[in-house]
Amino acid sequence: MLMPLHTDARRSGKPADIDINPLYVRLAREPVPRHALPRHSMLPDTALQVVRDELLLDGNARLNLATFVTTWMEPQAQQLMTECLAKNMIDKDEYPATAELEARCVNILADLWHAPEGMNATGCSTTGSSEACMLAGMALLWRWRAATAGTGRSSASSPPNLVMGTNVQVCWEKFCRYWQVEPRMVPMAPGRYHLTGPEAAARCDENTIGVVAILGSTMDGSYEPVGEICAELDRLAASGGPDVPIHVDGAHLAAALPRDLVFDVNYLGGQMPTFALNFSRPGAHVAAQYYNFLRLGFPGYQRVQQACQDVAVHMSGRIAKMGPFELISEGRELPVFAFKIADPQAAYSVFDLSERLRARGWLVPAYTFPADLTDTAVLRVVIRNGFTRDLADVFLSDLDHHWRMLAAHPHERAPLVPEGMRQGFAH
Ligand SMILES: Cc1ncc(COP(=O)(O)O)c(C=O)c1O
Repeated sequence: MLMPLHTDARRSGKPADIDINPLYVRLAREPVPRHALPRHSMLPDTALQVVRDELLLDGNARLNLATFVTTWMEPQAQQLMTECLAKNMIDKDEYPATAELEARCVNILADLWHAPEGMNATGCSTTGSSEACMLAGMALLWRWRAATAGTGRSSASSPPNLVMGTNVQVCWEKFCRYWQVEPRMVPMAPGRYHLTGPEAAARCDENTIGVVAILGSTMDGSYEPVGEICAELDRLAASGGPDVPIHVDGAHLAAALPRDLVFDVNYLGGQMPTFALNFSRPGAHVAAQYYNFLRLGFPGYQRVQQACQDVAVHMSGRIAKMGPFELISEGRELPVFAFKIADPQAAYSVFDLSERLRARGWLVPAYTFPADLTDTAVLRVVIRNGFTRDLADVFLSDLDHHWRMLAAHPHERAPLVPEGMRQGFAH
């Protein structure tokens, strides 16, 4: 059945700019400008359709095996997020209940990290891990400055440095550039795809603000040996060397946060301490995080992670047996694994495979490893909640089909990804 969406503008005497039926005829007559405001308003349904059309060529988030971010949440969580979109979570006086949920989330995480019982944990929500890493890096830098103040060391002649593996997420290089800290990158080596204790300690000196260890590595999902790195740093300090702190994502407490990094904001009648790079943002994510904590509980998270790991290990096992591939990791730590083409003389590359898989909707990043393994090119797969074994089997069958196609038709080789794009995928 056809129904008029609105009264005829010409007959009602209203301006013709809202006469938009039928939609595409109207749009064809007056193209929507791309880089300027339209000369006339349009109806909400028209705007909705135009924006949806613009987004048609985006990839399907559920088939995105590149990203580490959540791509599926229960409808109840989505409903809560919609309800909380209009709340400004920084405004703790106007939205004290959201502030309370945020504080509970911080304490739940602190408890998970075995923070001392009953502790009022120090922490805040952030817009993402990059912001969290910037804040952690700033805390390290401020503590180093405080420790070196008055010691006669000139920061101009000896800039602060941060020790980490070349496999860290790009946000750490960003931190170093923005805060003028020298990044001391520990290169990878054949068979060693992340940082080790001895490699880290060997690069520390009195200007080292900290060592970054990640769980797990951006390149292949493997866990860095945090205990071993800590032990090496302790040994260094005990032997008279510098006492260098370590940062592991999500695991630092009040004593590590210099007081002058906390802003006391007098906002709408309340004194409010803030530690964040941004200010206003919706309370939706806080509500959704608390929902997930309540909904899943410890066993729920365990089941989700176990299911992800089972799918990852199932996939990497099948890929190992497919023939042309060699696994870099199996997905037994983070449910993330990387693999390469075993034969260096193969007629096709991981970049060709990535492009072919994309034609089927799969988003699987291909990239070269960082220094000193830049001649190793891999595909990386991240398994998240919502990626079922059924989907995994469809992916495996597509992968099997496409490597065979490429092996049979090597002339269809895609160009290599330009240098400098190596971490463009790592969200
Ligand atoms: C260990 C680690 N740190 C930081 C980041 C950056 O996170 P975001 O993209 O949320 O800023 C990522 C992203 O995957 C990560 O894996």
